[in-house]
Amino acid sequence: MPTTLIAGNWKMHKTIAETRAFLAAFLERVPHLPADIAIAIAPPFTALSAAREALAGQTRVALAAQTMHWEPSGAYTGEISAPMLAELGVRYAIVGHSERRMYCGETDRTVNLKTQAALAHGITPIVAVGESLEVREAGGTDALVVAQVRAALHDIPPDDLQRVVIAYEPIWAIGTGLNCDAAQADRVMGSIRTAIPGLAEASLLYGGSMKPGNAAAYMERPNINGGLIGGASLDPYAFADLIQNASLV
Ligand code: 13P
Repeated sequence: MPTTLIAGNWKMHKTIAETRAFLAAFLERVPHLPADIAIAIAPPFTALSAAREALAGQTRVALAAQTMHWEPSGAYTGEISAPMLAELGVRYAIVGHSERRMYCGETDRTVNLKTQAALAHGITPIVAVGESLEVREAGGTDALVVAQVRAALHDIPPDDLQRVVIAYEPIWAIGTGLNCDAAQADRVMGSIRTAIPGLAEASLLYGGSMKPGNAAAYMERPNINGGLIGGASLDPYAFADLIQNASLV
């Protein structure tokens, strides 16, 4: 069975003080949240250490990074490596988010290198894929996301594939309030599931304007095992409500 995972991607939001305040409120709700759902938050790098301290002594909420470099160390000004993240107890790293593909030069090739590096250092990669509105309107969605998945997972040994998480995030649905209809998302994610052999047990997340009010509709679909949440993960009460509503139990 794929793991059910709800991960919050905070993007460039929250200082250390704001991170502490979020976690103080969120951790009060966590014991009441459904135990069948794994939870992760991806704060900015600057807040990872503070988040780690706030999360000490509990195992329900894992830490994620929003990106990482593929080399373990070197002359890469501004970058953060997998061993640095592993030292902080980071369990997941998002790679290939569309915002990084758009603004930071992320390519299918670097997504593949990062995916391999994350796995090599015991970090679960959350590989993000998704089409623009232009591609969708031209009927190219499935071909594009399947190509992105194949490129990201190129040369990954079959045994490692079940440790990979894939997030389908249609770019036009990110931060717009225009969520992709659950049936349509499920259909595209069915194509992702079969893009290469070995993904039957991989967790597939939907991302793009997922909110407390629409989470259940996604989770009921067979190919959707969780969510990668932007805006709704910034508020501890909204994020907890979303997780509550995502449980099928
Ligand atoms: P929103 O939930 O704000 O649409 O963001 C989705 C996303 O990009 C998560 O990585």
